[in-house]
Amino acid sequence: MALQPKNVGILAMEVYFPPTCIQQEVLEAHDGASKGKYTIGLGQDCMAFCTDVEDVISMSLTAVSSLLEKYGVDPKQIGRLEVGSETVLDKSKSIKTFLMPIFEKCGNTDIEGVDSTNACYGGTAALFNCVNWVESSSWDGRYGLVVCTDSAVYAEGPARPTGGAAAIAMLIGPNAPISFESKLRASHMAHAYDFYKPDLASEYPVVDGKLSQTCYLMALDSCYKSLCDKYEKLQGKQFSVVDVDYFVFHSPYNKLVQKSFARLLFNDFLRSASSIGESAKEKLAPFSSLTSDESYQSRDLEKASQQVAKPFYDAKVQPSTLVPKQVGNMYTASIYAAFASLIHNKYSTLAGQRVMLFSYGSGLSSSMFSVRLNEGQHPFNLSNIASVMNIAEKLKSRQEFPPEKFVETMKVMEHRYGGKDFVTSKDCSLLAPGTYYLTEVDSKYRRFYSKKANENGTLANGH
Ligand code: ACO
Repeated sequence: MALQPKNVGILAMEVYFPPTCIQQEVLEAHDGASKGKYTIGLGQDCMAFCTDVEDVISMSLTAVSSLLEKYGVDPKQIGRLEVGSETVLDKSKSIKTFLMPIFEKCGNTDIEGVDSTNACYGGTAALFNCVNWVESSSWDGRYGLVVCTDSAVYAEGPARPTGGAAAIAMLIGPNAPISFESKLRASHMAHAYDFYKPDLASEYPVVDGKLSQTCYLMALDSCYKSLCDKYEKLQGKQFSVVDVDYFVFHSPYNKLVQKSFARLLFNDFLRSASSIGESAKEKLAPFSSLTSDESYQSRDLEKASQQVAKPFYDAKVQPSTLVPKQVGNMYTASIYAAFASLIHNKYSTLAGQRVMLFSYGSGLSSSMFSVRLNEGQHPFNLSNIASVMNIAEKLKSRQEFPPEKFVETMKVMEHRYGGKDFVTSKDCSLLAPGTYYLTEVDSKYRRFYSKKANENGTLANGH
């Protein structure tokens, strides 16, 4: 049994998003929004959504089975499986249990872990649990597996274009190419009603959009301040954005990511950090005496800090924005889809770099934490992770729906949510080989899934 594992972190990743999507430009016109509101105003390009054959369970079955297969991991080697999700299909039975047939088939039922829920933060809680398990005295030498899976859908109205859907699976263990800098971590947890799901009959949240934006930025400020303090105590020197190579944010929509990063620069300015040069100091000086409440409302500050942040943003943030802009908010999976985008874009130059992640879940829970990247060893190396995720190909092979068909799909899903005794269309023509899909929910609410045949014609049994 391995003892005292070193460099614990993410060994492997797989990303899945539905092949069905709608262009934001098309949705904008259909919704009668002013031209540019969704594309420039929110900064989004496209949005993925589940049709009646997909849900958070089918997406996570696909992500997990694909990860195990593509990295050659024996299901018996998994000792802990944790799922983060805020898409409730059952108030008691965890999504994790729906994944167990993959492992039961191989005779492995000795797997700890269940689901974690707090809006978009559940995946990060699951990830921390798995990393902590591997670092703990109860670790038995096997891998942890984390799954983030969500279908983000909103009622018709201004929040609808900020939906999306995806599942991400991450293998956790020692000697990882993405290892945690455990001491560089700070959290901010508080009570807020910014986005919540009290109506259990509906998949849609109750959302106070403006409040959720402010809560997100306040949580970011608080995490960043605590993290800077911790670093400065540990290292005896000041911390600023220049100490980080890349930032990865929970990404409800890209404009908020732009504003968030600019906020870090404003924090650096208030702390007189070295990242802020003379000309930036001049630009931000008029805002130095704002109260923090005033600073969240000031459009002038927003503009000035985004201007100051722009060159840093292009270098340190932009490489992580691809999938969130193309797929939309994936709730728990959103931050890890942003991280996957960074690996996709930069895998060959990431060794030795520090990446800072910010995870936010309404209600609210948030953490900022740091990881260090290194080459790793096949199959657990950065270039293989990029090649397995195959993001460019997955984005390219999607099917764009016209808005009428998208709205119709949303209606079907609304009607089916929480329902029983129906069979789905079973139309898996748009799904890639090896993708799981929902076939039926019976009169006792039991859900049944099948797997689309692989290219070589092999078919795994549904269950
Ligand atoms: N061209 C360019 N930009 C435009 C245009 C246009 N024609 N029209 C509007 N805009 C800009 C606005 O100025 C605004 O930009 P700003 O924020 O820099 O001012 C942006 O587009 C959005 O316009 P708003 O009028 O602010 O949008 P609205 O209030 O209708 O909805 C919101 C936006 C609140 C984000 C809504 O989509 C929502 O509630 N989403 C869900 C909540 C959410 O995602 N919160 C984030 C954190 S919590 C979480 O992750 C769930």
